[in-house]
This record gives sequence, C-alpha cells and structure tokens, in this order.
Amino acid sequence: MSNTEVIPTSFEPGAAAKPGVIPLCVPELGGNEWIYVKECLDTNWVSSAGPFVSRFEQSIASYVGADHAIATVNGTAALHVALLVAGVEPDDEVILPALTFIAPANAVRYAGAWPVFIDVEPNYWQLDAEKVLDFLAQECQWTNGKLVNKTTQRGVRAILPVHILGHPCDIDAIYEIARKFDLVVVEDATESLGATYKNRPVGSGGDIACFSFNGNKIITTGGGGMIVTDRAEWAERARYLTTQAKDDYVEYVHNDIGYNYRLTNIQAALGCAQMEQLDEFVSAKRQIARQYASALSTVAGITCPQEAPWAASTFWLYTVLVDEQIYGIDSRKLLKRLEQENIQARPLWQPLHRSKAHAGSQSYRIEVTDRIHSKALSLPSSTGLSQRDLDLVVAAVTRTRSRL
Ligand SMILES: Cc1ncc(COP(=O)(O)O)c(C=O)c1O
Repeated sequence: MSNTEVIPTSFEPGAAAKPGVIPLCVPELGGNEWIYVKECLDTNWVSSAGPFVSRFEQSIASYVGADHAIATVNGTAALHVALLVAGVEPDDEVILPALTFIAPANAVRYAGAWPVFIDVEPNYWQLDAEKVLDFLAQECQWTNGKLVNKTTQRGVRAILPVHILGHPCDIDAIYEIARKFDLVVVEDATESLGATYKNRPVGSGGDIACFSFNGNKIITTGGGGMIVTDRAEWAERARYLTTQAKDDYVEYVHNDIGYNYRLTNIQAALGCAQMEQLDEFVSAKRQIARQYASALSTVAGITCPQEAPWAASTFWLYTVLVDEQIYGIDSRKLLKRLEQENIQARPLWQPLHRSKAHAGSQSYRIEVTDRIHSKALSLPSSTGLSQRDLDLVVAAVTRTRSRL
C-alpha cells in the first residue's frame, strides 16, 4: 500500500457502518458515557491521571475476581507488559495458538521472544492442550534446569492461550501442563470479557490475563486494555512499566526502560459507564447467539458455533462454518453475497503460521486451523443488533442457500 492511499476503515474495530449497512460489531453507548466524560472535561481530568482510571481498574478487578488490575492504552500493550512481568526474556519461546488475531504474536516479538504456533482443537477452535503437551513432551528437553526446544535450542518460557471469539479455552488443562513444565501462563482474554469457565470469570485465578476495550469488543473505551493478576509484585511492576518506569516523581529518575502505556481518564470514564452495562451486553450477545442457532442450524452446510461443557460463551462474534460442498458456495463467496445485501461479515484472521510477519517462527502439528480458517465467517454480532436486522441476516444466509 502506498503511503498516500487512504486506509479503508470499514473493517476497523467498531467502525460505524455506512447508513443502511448492518455492521459486524459496533459499540452500544447508551448508559452514563456522556455524563462521565463530561465530568472529565468539567473537572479538567483528561490525561492518564484522574479518578476514573482507578475506578475502572477496580471495576474490572472486582468483576473478574482479581486482586489487581492495571489499565493500559490497548490490549496489545497489556499483553506486551504482561509478558515482561511474567519473566519472558529475549530469545525465550512462547506457545500460542495458530488461529488468533496477530496482536499476541506481535507482543511476544516486542519482548524479543519468539512465538511457537500450535494448532487449535476442532470443536471450539481454541488452543489444543493435547498438542501443547505433545510438543513439550516430544519436542523439548530439560537442559541445565531449562526447558529447551530441541529444534531451535531456545528456552520455552510461557504459554499464551487466547480465549477467542468470546469462548474460553480449556484453561485448567493448560495450567496443568504449564505447572508440569514450569511455564508461566499469560492469558489473552481480550475477546472474552464476560465469559465464564466452570462458572469462574475468564481471566480469573491464573497467573496473569489481559483484556481489550477497542471499538468492537464487548465493552469499549475507544481503545484500551487491562492487565489482571493476583500477584502483587507483578502488578506493581506492570504499573511501573506502563507509566514510564518512574523511580522518582519529582526528579524524574528512571532506572528501567518503561512505556507510555497508561489509559487516559476520558477513556476510563467510558469504561466505567460500559462496565455498568456489561451484564446486559453479555445477555444480549447470548440471546443473539440463541436466535442465530435456532434459525441457522437447520441450513444445510452451515455449522453453528458450539459451547463447551465448561463454558458460558459471550459469542462475542457469532462465527459459523460454511461447508462449500453442502452449502454450494464457500465462506468468501457468502461474504460477497452478504456484502451485496448490505450485511457486513468477516472471515477469521490469517492463521499465524502463514503470516509473513512471523515467518521466522516455528509451528507444530497444524492440522485443524487452516480448515476452520477457510470455512469460518463471522456474522453481525453487535449487542444492539435489532430483531429486524437479525432476521435480515438469517434470511440472507438462508436465501443464498436456496438460490443455488
Ligand atoms: C485476540 C486478541 N488479542 C489482542 C488484541 C489486541 O487488543 P487491542 O486492539 O486493544 O490492542 C485483540 C483485539 O484487537 C484480539 O482480538
């Protein structure tokens, strides 16, 4: 892309759709957002100092059941700092699923470490714990007290499971493996705030987890992120690193390289208002999922997303699989047909083992990811999706099938 070309925004997180278009996923800002933002402007607290930042942190900490929460400028920054405080060092390796948005893999590189991409399981499309175990047991060995990848000779330090699309991974299985191999777990829960795993909020009770509040997430601050952890020293270090590693506030003494990653008070004000509505948003998303499932599960060639026995998903983006042989056209042709009917849909992300950006990273036993990627299509999933619009989406998917 030339640097004079305008970047298309219609697929940016939470971008408003053109009039008449049913958007993929846009925010709902019908609560106290105006009042709280006005309070920031009226009181002159617009920067990263201000009462809403800590109020937002407390609100997320208490919702998730974490001892500490640290607000950041976005979810990618949260992941970067979470990796650093979890002890990931340059040339370490971090295990990631191949099917996820690229941000966690990039965050691993920001820390100077290397991702190793492992497959997702076929049922819920989350990091496959069995393949992680297989990789660690078969492909790694202990050398001088360090777990080393036999192929790359690098030390394996962490697992970074990503709870994709509002559905939790089998996180107990992942922690069991991590403990066995002395690895830390950095959870990317950016897409799954509000989901539960065995009745526990996603992101709770583990080593460290991260959330995102960009424009298409279940709650939004425009852009924003959060780190949660029960470990006091990690929380303290994260707060230090995200605020330029200031050791003396008067003399501006810095003993470490820090980052300007702190969320602003205005964004946190939005976050506080959004948190007041999170339970409603989760109910709305689950209701949308129920309606899609009842209308689309009988359409031949469309497979609706499943909920694991351990999970209550938020169905953040309601994503179906399109079987070309049975449905008649593939997911990308369906995407185009929906576009012609003014309905915004979206494929999942390019699998990371195929990303040129991460060409230097190893991948292991990837057998499911590509199939899911080629068949998956996310349908409009805004919490405010009206009954009329949902019916139009269902009719379009059904009609496209019957038109063949
Ligand atoms: C899985 C995943 N990880 C990380 C991020 C990064 O979050 P942010 O956009 O707030 O940087 C996102 C969202 O964009 C995501 O979907």
